[in-house]
Amino acid sequence: MKIKVKSPANIAFIKYWGQADHRLTLPCNSSFSMNLSNCSVTVEIEKTQSLSDSRLFIKEYEAVDYIENTTSAYKKTMKFFKTAQDFLGKKAEFGIKVKSSITFPRSAGIASSAAYFSALALGFSKLLEVELDKKQLSILARLSGSGSACRSVPDGFVLWHKGRSSETSFAESLADPDYWQITDLVLILSKTSKKVESAEGHLKADTSPLFAERLYGVEKRLKLMLTAFKHKDLELFGHLVESEALSMHAVMMSQKPNLYYWSTKTFALLRRITALRQKNGLPVYFTIDAGANIHLITERRFLKQIISEFSAFLTISNKSAKGAEVI
Ligand code: DP6
Repeated sequence: MKIKVKSPANIAFIKYWGQADHRLTLPCNSSFSMNLSNCSVTVEIEKTQSLSDSRLFIKEYEAVDYIENTTSAYKKTMKFFKTAQDFLGKKAEFGIKVKSSITFPRSAGIASSAAYFSALALGFSKLLEVELDKKQLSILARLSGSGSACRSVPDGFVLWHKGRSSETSFAESLADPDYWQITDLVLILSKTSKKVESAEGHLKADTSPLFAERLYGVEKRLKLMLTAFKHKDLELFGHLVESEALSMHAVMMSQKPNLYYWSTKTFALLRRITALRQKNGLPVYFTIDAGANIHLITERRFLKQIISEFSAFLTISNKSAKGAEVI
């Protein structure tokens, strides 16, 4: 039996940073995101005969072949396979062979783990022959420990309700991919992996003196952003997206130990984006996850012009996409 699943990465407009419950991966605030059409992970899962025979093969961005991975990615996959069995209430009487390939640089602030673990959540539930609805599947993806994976399960534009328990912390689609022609043009400034994983960073978010202030402001921003989203008000939406990214990075930079994900290139480009808006009137806004790369948020009709402004960079252009699916 072989299952093939494709799942998108997602970009958060309202970010998830900090956990209310580490064991259950419950976030301190709700978050809002869009699935990315051209940044995805495909996994192929196959049963192997003996329980002890489990292997993981990974094909990196731009690589030709799969390479066997025996280190941390393997351990995380096996740990999640166990979590999935507990969640689904079914024991696997077999081992697994997983092959995974990715369309973008891993660990560079483009949510590769979100795409990977949401794909595994769907793949494992199919392998164990348990049908889950999207809500339950998002909960299972969240329990992988890569919380934002839950947002890659539903389609299009997705809200992750922070909840107060495992059952109430889930993601749901607020609109289909074609609701609004929002585009995310990722500027790849660096292909190297981030030094501190988000999982580690979340644990220390509350050591920042700005964290309590952020939690107060983020609820207001989310409410306002959903209004901007409803009216497709790009200007208000974009300004909120930027404020939100800056708020999260201010917390990251001021938590202990400090987390600086930006590079000098990132900083220089932020100024350029603001200038493009002010001088050329181009409605383009930035957001940044846990990495140096920048996501440029705009509407599709402005994309050509924006790409020409950033032609010196490697870019990946994304529209909103469906969530995890069997292919
Ligand atoms: C900065 O713990 O879900 O991207 O396991 O690295 O995928 P990974 O991250 P996770 O935290 C995501 C943090 C964030 C903001 C966001 O996507 O909301």
